[in-house]
Amino acid sequence: MLKYASRATTLSPFLAMAYGEKATALSNLGHDVIRLNLGEPDFGAPTPVVEAMKQSLSQADYPYTSALGLPELRSAIAQFYKSQHNVDIPASRIVVTAGASAALLLVSAALVENGDKVILGDPSYPCNRRFLNTFGGEVTLVPTSSEQQFQLTHDDVTHNWDSKTKGVLIASPANPTGTAIAQEELYSIGETCKQNDGFLIVDEIYLNLDLGIEDTSSSTNSVTNSVKQAPLNTVLANETLHSNTIVINSFSKYFGMTGWRLGWCVVPEGMTHIMERLAQNLFICPSTLAQQAALACFTPESLAQCEQKKAQLRARATFVLQAIADMGLSIDATPDGAFYAYINIERTGLTAVEFCDRLLAEEYVALTPGDDFGDHNATRYVRLSFATEISRLKEGLTRMKRFVETCTCE
Ligand SMILES: Cc1ncc(COP(=O)(O)O)c(C=O)c1O
Repeated sequence: MLKYASRATTLSPFLAMAYGEKATALSNLGHDVIRLNLGEPDFGAPTPVVEAMKQSLSQADYPYTSALGLPELRSAIAQFYKSQHNVDIPASRIVVTAGASAALLLVSAALVENGDKVILGDPSYPCNRRFLNTFGGEVTLVPTSSEQQFQLTHDDVTHNWDSKTKGVLIASPANPTGTAIAQEELYSIGETCKQNDGFLIVDEIYLNLDLGIEDTSSSTNSVTNSVKQAPLNTVLANETLHSNTIVINSFSKYFGMTGWRLGWCVVPEGMTHIMERLAQNLFICPSTLAQQAALACFTPESLAQCEQKKAQLRARATFVLQAIADMGLSIDATPDGAFYAYINIERTGLTAVEFCDRLLAEEYVALTPGDDFGDHNATRYVRLSFATEISRLKEGLTRMKRFVETCTCE
């Protein structure tokens, strides 16, 4: 009998996907299911990118590119850091990958030895733990609270750092909460990593989807739409951290290109050749077609379209936060970016899994239970993704309100 490796058989299922499958099964039975479970933007790639892909299709062949990615694309990404964040990054430090996922996998392969510990916050994106585990890394999952925006603090890092700790991985803005880490806290954590000859990985996949919603953290019942003063910035704005910080990003979210499988990372000077050797061996290169088309992401027209979609996301965020407050549930930390609301459902008396199962079965609305993202208080939260167009969101939240009323009346 075929024996599977324990690293494969012990992996927990990705619940967001599992609820997606349950939703599909119900749709196949003819039910009108509203899917608010997946972190996938409903808008596709910018039209110039789609046009560029059509043009590429007339080419005769599509050879492998360099393992580090097309040089023009690496330069365009470097230029994007300059124009969006006023940060100078040489193209030589940019590695194009098959999505942020491949970047995280390659970076884990480059930095993690068997038994090395890496500190992550709880809740957090579950796959980020799995990439590290795949290379023998052990994750120190540190509970966080809404008072700290569900992000690690510098104290969390220093208290949990031991002789086996090699680094810290932070997503900002994060999945499932959409909250960003305070800049000073991130910089102090980076300094601590540096002093310990460790690494700081910052997953900035949602950085360009900054929502600018004012902090409303749930005690009030009204949600305003005013824009925060400080825009979110990349950790790379702090040059002193460049020597030990790796930044992860992707075309999946801001550019709406999930299925194109394209992302990148910015690595310290000197790490590029390590990444090149790993990428050559493990992937050869990211998709040539997708890379060629992605060059069109950085045209003014594409960027204007992305900004327009972001404005739509802002409007949805405001709507969702108000609707959640109106049904008497709370968002304990206001999202700064991405398209997620992490909702405290304690008031219903249900666990997150019970809540999601019943909401799907009774009202045909799919959410993801907090259990997907960690252990600490996970059963009290569900994640709602507002990457769905507004009329479906409105309908979904109306159904959810009806459902919550039945729970809180029982
Ligand atoms: C925080 C975070 N990192 C990485 C990824 C993976 O993204 P990609 O599609 O670029 O592989 C996701 C996807 O949802 C995510 O939420």
